[in-house]
Amino acid sequence: MIRNSRILIADDDETLCYLLKEELINEGFLVDNVYDGNDAINKIKKQKYDILLLDLEMREVSGEAVLEFVKTNCPALQVIVLTAKTEIRTAIECIKLGAYDFITKPYQFDQLLVIIERALEHQNLVVQNKILETKVNKNSASSIIGQSKKIKEVINLAEKAAISDSNILLQGETGTGKELFSEYIHKCSPRSEKPFVAINCASLPDQLIESELFGYEKGAFTDAKTSKQGLVEIADGGTLFLDEIGELSLTLQPKLLRFLENGEFRRIGGVNTINSNVRVIGATNKNLMEESEKKNFRRDLLFRLNVITLTIPPLHERDTDIILLAEYFLEKKSPVRTPKVLSDEAKDMLMKYDFPGNVRELSHIIERAIIFSDGNIIKAKDLSLPKEQDRNPIFSENVMNPALSLEETEKILIHNSLVQNDWNRENTARALGISQKTLYTKIKKYNLK
Ligand SMILES: Nc1ncnc2c1ncn2[C@@H]1O[C@H](COP(=O)(O)OP(=O)(O)OP(=O)(O)O)[C@@H](O)[C@H]1O
Ligand SMILES: [Mg+2]
Repeated sequence: MIRNSRILIADDDETLCYLLKEELINEGFLVDNVYDGNDAINKIKKQKYDILLLDLEMREVSGEAVLEFVKTNCPALQVIVLTAKTEIRTAIECIKLGAYDFITKPYQFDQLLVIIERALEHQNLVVQNKILETKVNKNSASSIIGQSKKIKEVINLAEKAAISDSNILLQGETGTGKELFSEYIHKCSPRSEKPFVAINCASLPDQLIESELFGYEKGAFTDAKTSKQGLVEIADGGTLFLDEIGELSLTLQPKLLRFLENGEFRRIGGVNTINSNVRVIGATNKNLMEESEKKNFRRDLLFRLNVITLTIPPLHERDTDIILLAEYFLEKKSPVRTPKVLSDEAKDMLMKYDFPGNVRELSHIIERAIIFSDGNIIKAKDLSLPKEQDRNPIFSENVMNPALSLEETEKILIHNSLVQNDWNRENTARALGISQKTLYTKIKKYNLK
């Protein structure tokens, strides 16, 4: 925890700054110092610190003003007030304003060290809460189930890749486990104690993706009442998972590229360059090489991302995993302690099915079967697997009408799929193999209701 933590000392007493800096560096901290409040604010804007040791009495801009800036702009930064005995009342006021603690000068270094350690623990909690708040944290990755040769090979490669610090591209059809693998890689990496932050590049409009990723400064746009940290900043030291990266717009691609090249970025509306050290894992079910040939995806960005590429095979290519996974989901989703069991015909039927939705589809099939089966045995009919003609609606009668244009066919196909998925856009987009953004555009275009 201590190593790599960054401390800024803001105190106009130059000798104290010098000595304290030396002592802290000896303890393994990364330390900068400034002699005035203004300089402190400028430093904080440029560099992410974990702890600020703050003197209250500084020449131009006081410690209180710095504290106020920190509380509105970087709430995860922990402030420890350095105060003279005479200023204790003010120091207590600072605690009320959000400083973590204070220590009176002359202080014992050991004592200060204890406060710093506690503040770092507290900071960790603040960061974790922030991640929870933005709903980006993932529950600790569940285990990857599989004994097929193909999946074992990918797990093996993922474990090796985890130790390196290279960016990784995960390829695979929908529902094959790309997100699960990304969490697993993070968990096996030296970054595992730091945040794992995920964002789906297809789920939000461009501007929102940009502000989620890079954050913004107060006043950057009408609604920006306070400044906000971006996910790249929150993920500092950890892993940033960019899901459906193939959907990232051509406007945002160069911005991400810039960040990948040197770890630097600017918040929207910000003038300062901020540094953040993240490993990026991208996931896609597209062929990005083809996309780059079609000029939909920048080649230079692709080469930054695919330093290591892992391809997760579809479920129908790993037969030996099907029953294993089915039994795993039976146990995981069972509401009672003793899970139901699959009959031989049910197993047989699962083995013959091709799972276009891969592992996710299998987990839904099992979840449904647990609910709808009577007794403890799940029979073949309880699986309610789609019939052949329903699996590919494009071949169903109303769509295969040669008199229909391509657009009309597309409209019916999308409408059918929306109905099948109870108008759930996420599931529909997944079933159709398109992004939610594309689905949204089509719904508007065809005025589907
Ligand atoms: N090998 C596995 N063992 C256990 N669970 C798995 C496995 N593979 C996938 N799953 C589960 O299946 C579901 C789908 O996996 P995940 O979300 O990782 O797929 P994905 O490739 O990201 O899909 P999409 O492209 O649609 O986003 C999740 O609930 C995941 O936990
Ligand atoms: Mg996914």
